[in-house]
Amino acid sequence: MSTIGQNITSAKTILQQAKIVAIPTETVYGLAGNALDVIAVAQIFSVKKRPSFDPLIVHTHSIEALKNFVTEIPKQALQLAQAFWPGPLTLLLPKKNNIPDLVTSGLDRVAVRIPNHPLTLELLQSLDFPLAAPSANPFGYISPTTAQHVADQLGNEVEYILDGGACTIGVESTIVGWENNIPTVMRVGGLSIEEIERVIGPVNIQAVSSSNPAAPGMLKSHYAPRIPMIEGNIEELITQHASKKIAVLSFQKAYPSVYKNYILSAKGDTTEAAQHLFAAMRELDTCGAEVILTEYVPATGLGLAINDRLKRACA
Ligand code: TXA
Ligand code: MG
Repeated sequence: MSTIGQNITSAKTILQQAKIVAIPTETVYGLAGNALDVIAVAQIFSVKKRPSFDPLIVHTHSIEALKNFVTEIPKQALQLAQAFWPGPLTLLLPKKNNIPDLVTSGLDRVAVRIPNHPLTLELLQSLDFPLAAPSANPFGYISPTTAQHVADQLGNEVEYILDGGACTIGVESTIVGWENNIPTVMRVGGLSIEEIERVIGPVNIQAVSSSNPAAPGMLKSHYAPRIPMIEGNIEELITQHASKKIAVLSFQKAYPSVYKNYILSAKGDTTEAAQHLFAAMRELDTCGAEVILTEYVPATGLGLAINDRLKRACA
């Protein structure tokens, strides 16, 4: 079983041996290894059971350090970096040769971010290499937002889980790349489109395809609970599934008649709802219900990211 603790030196020692450690970030927990070492990176793929065509995000602690492994930081990228790092934003930038092809699945751009978590920033500062880290869940399952979530699923495979408490954002980072110099959001996430557009003006949002992982990480069925999850009008769905033990994942409203109800934000706040989303999905998945009924939330702020995750969880 893994050790859960807050000892940065323990995490550092393991990482220096080209082994992997689970790390906290403000978005979700990551499964981290030395991004410059193929042996470490290969372990990440194998523990996560992740197909090698799905590239990894590289985490670092400063824009200065980033320059060691990207060839340039275009103007808009720098504006975003300065406005939102450390924070829930990932940028796709041209990579230097020291980033192994395994990290980027052979693409010439590497996904990079500076995460906003004090323990992980301290860890990154203490290392002389960046950390490649996907979310610390088995491929296709719900992302972890506590150290215990990681232990529940990868406890036999990860020696050490650095415990930074519950993630404050709760959904993965927003990924921005440039297609013919046009800023393009490749994954909606913990930084809202509104905030990005306030800094660099209008952005495209990439239409997501189910079978083309080169529009990356965007496999249609993802973040999925083990029991079926269905989106729609909750009242109608309850009637349709009356013969089953029902769990309801609702935005604001209470459904006291069902077996189990998780309300994402009683005050109707999408930021609060994002924080609770994955923990709620896990809880309902394991509560003994036979089906999870849910609904989309308002598509503003982090609502876009929430609805994206709900859609994939229902796919
Ligand atoms: O918030 C986050 O981003 C978390 C924390 C741990 O930082 N990480 C995360 O990693 O969500 P992961 O591996 O679960 O998702 C990374 C996404 C994938 O969809 C992947 O396809 C995309 O980033 N990606 C990574 N490298 C890429 C690249 N070079 N070009 C395009 N997309 C890339
Ligand atoms: Mg993931």
